[in-house]
Amino acid sequence: MRVLITGANGLLGQKLVSLLSGMHEITTIATGRGPNRNPAGSYSYLSADLTHPEEVNQLIIASRPDVLIHCGAMTQVDECELHPDQCWQANVSGTEYLLAAAKTLNAYFLYVSTDFVFDGENGPYEENDLPNPISHYGRSKLEAESLVLNSGLKASIVRTVLVYGVAHDPSRSNIVLWVKNSLEQHKPIQVVNDQWRTPTLAEDLAFGCWLVAKNRHQGIFHLSGEEMVSPYSLAIMVADCFQLDRSLISAVDASTFTQPGKRPPRTGFIIEKAKGMGFRPKSIAEGLAIVESQLS
Ligand SMILES: NC(=O)c1ccc[n+]([C@@H]2O[C@H](COP(=O)([O-])OP(=O)(O)OC[C@H]3O[C@@H](n4cnc5c(N)ncnc54)[C@H](OP(=O)(O)O)[C@@H]3O)[C@@H](O)[C@H]2O)c1
Repeated sequence: MRVLITGANGLLGQKLVSLLSGMHEITTIATGRGPNRNPAGSYSYLSADLTHPEEVNQLIIASRPDVLIHCGAMTQVDECELHPDQCWQANVSGTEYLLAAAKTLNAYFLYVSTDFVFDGENGPYEENDLPNPISHYGRSKLEAESLVLNSGLKASIVRTVLVYGVAHDPSRSNIVLWVKNSLEQHKPIQVVNDQWRTPTLAEDLAFGCWLVAKNRHQGIFHLSGEEMVSPYSLAIMVADCFQLDRSLISAVDASTFTQPGKRPPRTGFIIEKAKGMGFRPKSIAEGLAIVESQLS
């Protein structure tokens, strides 16, 4: 089976490349913008900018995937709010070009989406709860979901929440690494305690995506951790795991920050459907121990 992974230089993309390239029955093709930032392994890498339809067509012709796992996206919420056209191009038009190209091969299509499709008034959410995005990022991801579900292809939407983990040469950080790095430099940090999430270890998410894709499941799947915590509580867990000074962390309300993109207050997922197909996410303590072992 030939599997194409978009966003392969990103956190989830790298975990998928690492997972699938270790499987003999899979031919893994990774794609990202610019040069490959993954360690060497049994996969090929093709660079393509998803906002250029001709590059997307060439990519699909060269890779001939049976399965696409589409994680490439503009993921920074504030950047999306400040540059809405760029966000729409990357998240909606990019998905549209990939879908059109995937149709020529009748490939199976897995689209990775977000808890930010919800307004965060009533989390944790199940798959059939009604989305109501409150940011441009969330609206772009929801629009792409709709394109995928109406494409006529065999397809799934995998939504996830606050992903953390270690990537090689990453272009952006995540909450766990940010807290750890700040505390190591003895920098005081303010972390919100009035938002709620079910954080997700990147390796768990990659494995969950593979469970969905290899069985060609169709429909929407919520994949995340199971523990509902505030970013502040997560930061305290990080401090304790890495034996850093938790007194540097102050709990603040989200209203302390004036961010361009609105964040939903309470998301988090109910993951019973995913557990029914064998998804077993790590606890946060187990996830942090894995991060610690990868960094040491
Ligand atoms: N991280 C989270 O907390 C979270 C939560 C919910 C959902 N998700 C979803 O999960 C998926 C994976 O997220 P992630 O954490 O792995 O994000 P990430 O680290 O930001 O990776 C996204 C990748 O997409 C690439 N990309 C952006 N625009 C592109 C374009 N025009 N052409 C080709 N590649 C492009 C980026 O390239 P560059 O590296 O060159 O910028 C980046 O490598 C995304 O769809 C995201 O919406 C993430």
